[in-house]
Amino acid sequence: MAKLTVRDLNVKGKRVFLRVDYNVPLEEKDGKMVITDATRIVETLHTLKLLIEQGGRLILTAHLGRPKGKREATMSLRPVADKLHELLGQPVAFADDCIGEHVEKIAAALKDGEVALLENVRYYNEEEANDPAFAEKLAKVADVYVNDAFGAAHRAHASTEGVARVVAKRGGQCAAGLLMERELKFLGDELEKPARPFVVILGGAKVSDKIKVIDRLLEKADTILIGGAMAYTFRLAHGQKVGKSLVEPDRQAMALAAEAKAKQLKVNFELPSDVVVAKPVPTDKLNKKGKPVMDFVNIHTVTDAIPDDAEGFSIGEQTAAHYAKIILGAKTILWNGPMGMFEDARFAAGTNAVAKAVAEATQKHGAKSIIGGGDSVKALNQAKLGDQVSFMSTGGGASLEFLEGAVLPGVAALSDK
Ligand code: 3PG
Ligand code: MG
Repeated sequence: MAKLTVRDLNVKGKRVFLRVDYNVPLEEKDGKMVITDATRIVETLHTLKLLIEQGGRLILTAHLGRPKGKREATMSLRPVADKLHELLGQPVAFADDCIGEHVEKIAAALKDGEVALLENVRYYNEEEANDPAFAEKLAKVADVYVNDAFGAAHRAHASTEGVARVVAKRGGQCAAGLLMERELKFLGDELEKPARPFVVILGGAKVSDKIKVIDRLLEKADTILIGGAMAYTFRLAHGQKVGKSLVEPDRQAMALAAEAKAKQLKVNFELPSDVVVAKPVPTDKLNKKGKPVMDFVNIHTVTDAIPDDAEGFSIGEQTAAHYAKIILGAKTILWNGPMGMFEDARFAAGTNAVAKAVAEATQKHGAKSIIGGGDSVKALNQAKLGDQVSFMSTGGGASLEFLEGAVLPGVAALSDK
């Protein structure tokens, strides 16, 4: 990597301003916010331990949710400080603000190897606005800047970008953490010259969300397997009936262009041959937004037209078996986006079959499997196969933008080697 990393630093006695992505899922239980998945915290421990061993004084900054400049109690990082204390096995001081005298006092009291976590930076609107004056305020406690927040590196915010600029201007070092380094290695370098066949599995709801990735990966992949609701827009573009399925009628030309490019580049571009459909019916329950909760009846599989009253919810068994066979022959696999509504057990079989094939290709055939964050990680974990793949990204939006070929502002702001 052409950027400075924490391995290149000596932070003894220095205040290290460490941006992490602790935007973890929380649930309210008995009036308390409880972390339901601590992966993002666990994945930063290598960086933390290295900097602690070096004798750095760590000041951690993060965001949680989208509080839009308000002090939302449910989005406090305090439960994260408790979790970090437990995982790290040493005290973590918590500052209930991210700027100001209180923070400066806590930072000044830190001894070598001690750790503090600051409150949610998004309690200030200036964070997302990347306000230079706010970045200066954050940087008051920064001798060195380290960014280990890969999941937020696609945001040009004050704590992910602005502070780095301030520190660099003062002549300070700005380095990538070990998690950031690992993410960039797997999602970047490892896919530069992939062992072949290179099979890309893309799912999710929308063609518009994935078209840039499709376009870029068409240049590299041997096969692209399409699943999820995005497949229905392709069906629509082929003049097939899609019933009530989620489609983007204005993206049909885009879908056809992707297929044409695949043909031209001799990339095997596969669409589902069968689909699990169901008839959605409203129940008398309402969801949080006040809309009726839907139930799904008459679940069955179709190969051609989706009936007018039905909606597609997953790739079918035939497609799953066909995709699995291709995946088992791969030497490099990149997976981004589920094959259907896997959160509902009735529609999880297609996604699970793909997850199983990816795990098996990795474990039995030595394939390198890279999972591009977000829902595909959730699906693998739900199938209890998370530890059977080569790499799972901690970034959702960030990994997608990186795979699209975008320069991530949080990476660009770091010092060159
Ligand atoms: C994420 O969870 O995707 C990252 O933490 C970034 O959060 P954001 O999408 O609210 O910027
Ligand atoms: Mg996001």
